[in-house]
Amino acid sequence: MTTSNQPHSYGAMSRTELEALEITLVQKYDEIAAAKLALDLTRGKPSSEQLNLSNELDGILKGQYILQDGTDVRNYGGLLGIPEARALGASILETNADEILVGGNASLTLMHQYLAFMQPIWKQECPEGVKFICPVPGYDRHFTLCEHFNIEMIPVSFNGQDPDLDQIERLVQQDPSIKGIWCVPKYSNPTGTTYSETAVKRFSMLPKISGDNFRIMWDNAYAVHHLSDAPDQLANLMALARHHDTNDSMVLFGSTSKVTFAGAGISFLGTSREKLGEFEQHLSETMIGFDKVNQLRHVLFLKDMSGIARHMARHAALLKPRFALTEKILSKYLAGKRIGEWSRPNGGYFVSFDAIPGQAKEIITLAANVGVRLTPAGATFPYGLDPEDRNIRLAPTFPALDSLQQALEVFVVCVQLASVRHYLKS
Ligand SMILES: Cc1ncc(COP(=O)(O)O)c(C=O)c1O
Repeated sequence: MTTSNQPHSYGAMSRTELEALEITLVQKYDEIAAAKLALDLTRGKPSSEQLNLSNELDGILKGQYILQDGTDVRNYGGLLGIPEARALGASILETNADEILVGGNASLTLMHQYLAFMQPIWKQECPEGVKFICPVPGYDRHFTLCEHFNIEMIPVSFNGQDPDLDQIERLVQQDPSIKGIWCVPKYSNPTGTTYSETAVKRFSMLPKISGDNFRIMWDNAYAVHHLSDAPDQLANLMALARHHDTNDSMVLFGSTSKVTFAGAGISFLGTSREKLGEFEQHLSETMIGFDKVNQLRHVLFLKDMSGIARHMARHAALLKPRFALTEKILSKYLAGKRIGEWSRPNGGYFVSFDAIPGQAKEIITLAANVGVRLTPAGATFPYGLDPEDRNIRLAPTFPALDSLQQALEVFVVCVQLASVRHYLKS
């Protein structure tokens, strides 16, 4: 039942009501413009307070560079990483330590190197061109990597918390030139959802119906990045894949970028032992080994999964107020008006906002014109093309709380203004 103090859905308003609302919103918008703001909601990076949580990394070695097995971490060698860091990566990505390679400060580099490694194999099988499935909305840098390697991207939508697996299975079965799929299975960028157990099971069997050398790029960037005391649970892809004998097709990625220092962490790649050996061979043409000194620092600092959980709880304490504020402002100004939907993630770094179709670009332009930068419209889709022009990725982690509040208050005015004009036109 509708009560008088419930907000009006814009679609149910009369023209006169909409016109009056537009006048009020334009007034607010002009006041914002006069304030000459310079705010930024684009950056999915940790705040300085979060980075401070890991300052102990600096100096933690106290001159000790020799591992238990006698390895001197300052020297060349050990391309797969030091055993202690491989074990740490294995516990984060939930696989075996001998299936892990520890890389430098960016898992993105490992993704790039892995795609480069697969290029000759795929090109030989599919001289006409290779395709990848990209669940959307998704992570723009995955799409950039595909563009770089000339991999054609096929967008597939989410169906609730999971990418549409019926469609994925159909596509993969029909077209052997589809050689891979990007997945951010936990606290997905940007939707914040975690794949269901059923979905993970189906993913583990996908290589059974695909063409040869199909790869699931399982980017578990937010594996330990919980915001809730009841974290999402992700089924273990690699364990399922071993069971179905598909583990050669699984490539797990992760890093400590949003655990310790975003610019000076360590990264991980996990796959079957056999495929890891082949990838190691490929990498050995470009380097003798990654930074093992930093690997040791990370092992001493984070120690194990309990250490990581304690450390991530400190991150969560800093992040929760930012996500709570985002939810508070969005629901205060937008709930019940049917002009937008947004995610309420249990972890990760983003809130995904869906405007009325056709309004995302307009909202982003309105915000930019009064000094609030939002992630460009379409960034969460391959080739920058959001077919419905409705998804906007909000990144609440970096700004201080007062700046975040200001930026969100501008955002909701822009959403309302774009939406009221939409209804006035229709
Ligand atoms: C899904 C996802 N993968 C990877 C990265 C980048 O990770 P790294 O710093 O390890 O390259 C990000 C950063 O935003 C991300 O959201």
